Amino acid sequence: MTIQNVGVIGCGLMGSGIVQVAAQAGFRVLFVEANGALVERGLGRLRETFEGLVAKGKLDAAAKDAVLARIGGTARLEDLKGCDLVVEAMTENQQLKNETFAQLDRICPPHAILATNTSSCNVTALAAATTRPRQVLGLHFFNPVPLMKLVEVARTILTDEAVVATATEWVRTVGKTPVQTKDSTAFIVNRLLVPYLLDAVRLYEGGLASLEDIDTAMKLGCGYPMGPFTLLDLVGLDTAMYVAEVMFEEFREPRYAPPPLLKRMVLAGRLGRKTGRGFYAYTG
Ligand code: 3HC
Repeated sequence: MTIQNVGVIGCGLMGSGIVQVAAQAGFRVLFVEANGALVERGLGRLRETFEGLVAKGKLDAAAKDAVLARIGGTARLEDLKGCDLVVEAMTENQQLKNETFAQLDRICPPHAILATNTSSCNVTALAAATTRPRQVLGLHFFNPVPLMKLVEVARTILTDEAVVATATEWVRTVGKTPVQTKDSTAFIVNRLLVPYLLDAVRLYEGGLASLEDIDTAMKLGCGYPMGPFTLLDLVGLDTAMYVAEVMFEEFREPRYAPPPLLKRMVLAGRLGRKTGRGFYAYTG
């Protein structure tokens, strides 16, 4: 099967990155947002990104126009009726995703592959919400999508081998490195990363060291590109807490339980870079 037209649901942090890499790899991409204003915001964000790349000399103006011409936005899910592959990147809400997959199943052509970028929802439940469970799988990108090389390809016990192969090849075509995993809450990366991030919060909460020193320790002591608090601010504290809660619910292991400070930061609206303040303050 050849993938030509790609649908992306959601054009937020992750969705816009997926739209970007797919369009830059030559695919026609149509994204869906909840309303017209969010469609405009998504298109504006993408335009800004490409203009930034032109200003830095990483893309020429003609290539920018060509890639933008391949991108469309809509507020109607029905407009995905011509897609060969749909990647859902909505907020992490199992019920909402189940309903969306049932709708996609009715809208998309019979050959279409339905993928989710979820990091914590149950992919098997999404497959079961459709009449094509063999064509449903996880394609989990990492933040920031244009820069992070990995995609976890998560198959359920129902996914067809040929669908896994097609989706894996598509991941390579958009310039990413695929790894294969099973549909199990949090897959590989978050299964290891989330307990580490939660432990960092516990160390800080317990008064072991300052935020800055914990970050510096992990950057320089382990060679990580950023320390745990800088990374939590990038991922979003609400997202990190949600993923941890789902993992705790699934595995019932204390190491996945969000620490009290993380919960309070989220309640206080300190969600990280996206709100201008998380563990650190951001301006501009
Ligand atoms: N498209 C293309 N290029 C872009 C871009 C975009 N949208 N945005 C930035 N760039 C370019 C910049 O122009 C810059 O180019 P230059 O080097 O030529 O100037 C280059 O990319 C690097 O930009 P930065 O200087 O901002 O990047 P850094 O070198 O500081 O690296 C980082 C940033 C890649 C984010 C690095 O710090 C890192 O790897 N951090 C860890 C991130 C991580 O762990 N992510 C995973 C989070 S977990 C997750 O996502 C799972 C989820 O389910 C929760």
